[in-house]
Amino acid sequence: MTQAPPASGLSAATLDALLSTRGKDLPPPRIGDPRKSADLISFMSGFPDPASLPAQQVAEATARAMEKDGRWALQYGATMGYTGLVDALLDKLGRHQGIRAGRENVLITAGGSQAVALTLDLLVDPGDTVLMEEPTWMGFVYALNNLGAKSVGVPVDEHGTDLEALERELKRLTAEGVRPKLIYVIPNFQNPSGVSTTLARRKRIVELAHEYGTLILEDDAYYDLRYEGEWLPPIYTLDEVGQTFYLGTFSKIMGAGMRLGWLVAPPAIIGKLATLKIDGGTNVFGSHVAAEWVPRHLDDHIAKLREIYRRRRDLMLASLARHMPEGTTWTTPEGGFFIWVTFPEGVDTVKMLPQARERGVEFLPGRTCYAQDRGHRFLRLSYSFAEDEQIDDGIRIVGEIARGELLETGRA
Ligand SMILES: Cc1ncc(COP(=O)(O)O)c(C=O)c1O
Repeated sequence: MTQAPPASGLSAATLDALLSTRGKDLPPPRIGDPRKSADLISFMSGFPDPASLPAQQVAEATARAMEKDGRWALQYGATMGYTGLVDALLDKLGRHQGIRAGRENVLITAGGSQAVALTLDLLVDPGDTVLMEEPTWMGFVYALNNLGAKSVGVPVDEHGTDLEALERELKRLTAEGVRPKLIYVIPNFQNPSGVSTTLARRKRIVELAHEYGTLILEDDAYYDLRYEGEWLPPIYTLDEVGQTFYLGTFSKIMGAGMRLGWLVAPPAIIGKLATLKIDGGTNVFGSHVAAEWVPRHLDDHIAKLREIYRRRRDLMLASLARHMPEGTTWTTPEGGFFIWVTFPEGVDTVKMLPQARERGVEFLPGRTCYAQDRGHRFLRLSYSFAEDEQIDDGIRIVGEIARGELLETGRA
């Protein structure tokens, strides 16, 4: 029989006296739960397609890893990451991304999220300024808020980061005596807009970072999931000075439950991050398993994923064309997981979400992807998680709710 836990004796006053400034200020947790989303038609999160997760292959890789090296896989690990996985990753980065790096350039992290958090921890004090695309990945917005950092938004257009805005903001900040700590960009199939930054713009971002003496944090979580268009080199490979840090993840190309990602940066930076990272090594067990799985299966698995996500994107684009109210526009991503929808003035996607949930559908209101209270007429649709057969029904319901909103505001 389970017993009720003892009542906490910790009073609010005691807790308040003990919490850090940052701890006092925290909003409620915002962690998504894929199991709950599975009960709905979920276009909300960047969860990988459940049916494609390579459970059987990972079971076999686990058995091999245990037979080969079980006593080390179940031990604490090297702070920089298990060298077997680092080597498999370096091979992948060389072949796919064109990134030539050595072990000393790599830190294995608990997903790309930890690479972001550690980088911010290293560079950003409360009150410091960071440049980021707007809209951007909500995880980055949360991380900045948690740190008490200031963000300056740079819009994204159909060719990626708006460089005129970036340069204008860099100039303005410099005139005010502020040096932004970094420029955070997602150049491929940006989360949430789905757009990619052109090669010319990537080159210019590097020049601007050099000119203004700041760093670039390049988040390439979706690099491998391009299913059309030209492959573009990561910004990291265009930066000969070494002011770009490159982060990626196995979440979207192996399994998010592995909680394995990476940061590639100059050795001096990797060393400092390793000092901040006091966790006894990232998921040592999972790293041994991934080191078995990646060389045998990664390339084939990525090829399979591209087919699945391209199909889902096409289904969703066709459904949007069928069901969205007039005046609605959306992006056409060449890869990744996301479509960004712009509704006519008057639609508030924050208000739409509870109605959608009531009808068994969820999406991400655009507001979540901005640091300030903006973005209410946008929403992000992820086509990675819902099944093929659910997409049209889900989009029809979103369209009906948007139409209802427009009627209410007298704009339909
Ligand atoms: C742009 C971007 N960066 C980083 C991440 C981090 O993911 P993870 O911590 O699972 O590697 C995500 C996940 O959705 C993402 O969309």
